[in-house]
Amino acid sequence: MYSEKVMDHFMHPRNVGEIENADGIGEVGNAKCGDIMKVYLTIEDDIIVDVKFKTFGCAAAIATSSMATELVKGKHIDEALTITNKAVAQALDGLPPIKMHCSALAEQAIKAAIEDYLQKSND
Ligand code: FES
Repeated sequence: MYSEKVMDHFMHPRNVGEIENADGIGEVGNAKCGDIMKVYLTIEDDIIVDVKFKTFGCAAAIATSSMATELVKGKHIDEALTITNKAVAQALDGLPPIKMHCSALAEQAIKAAIEDYLQKSND
């Protein structure tokens, strides 16, 4: 039921881990299943130069987290904020409809991490 790309990103997730002294950290939970994703960003001049994540979740959540981090790496934060969970799912050649809610985790965690960075840099 999963595409080859989903399986690849699930079996070999990119950018797994933590960043010490990250510029932005976002953590979100999926209300439907209780799964959690945490994202760490290193940002220089509003460009995401490094990103790592930890996801305690299902295969779709891990694969979308992996793909989402690949999509935002190297991007300006304004551009990263426009990346939707649908775009992430498309980049993975689609998700089964009942798993679409899992992809929301990655989008929300990245947005939360960027907001955290923006708040900190306004202090
Ligand atoms: Fe929890 Fe997929 S079932 S994120």
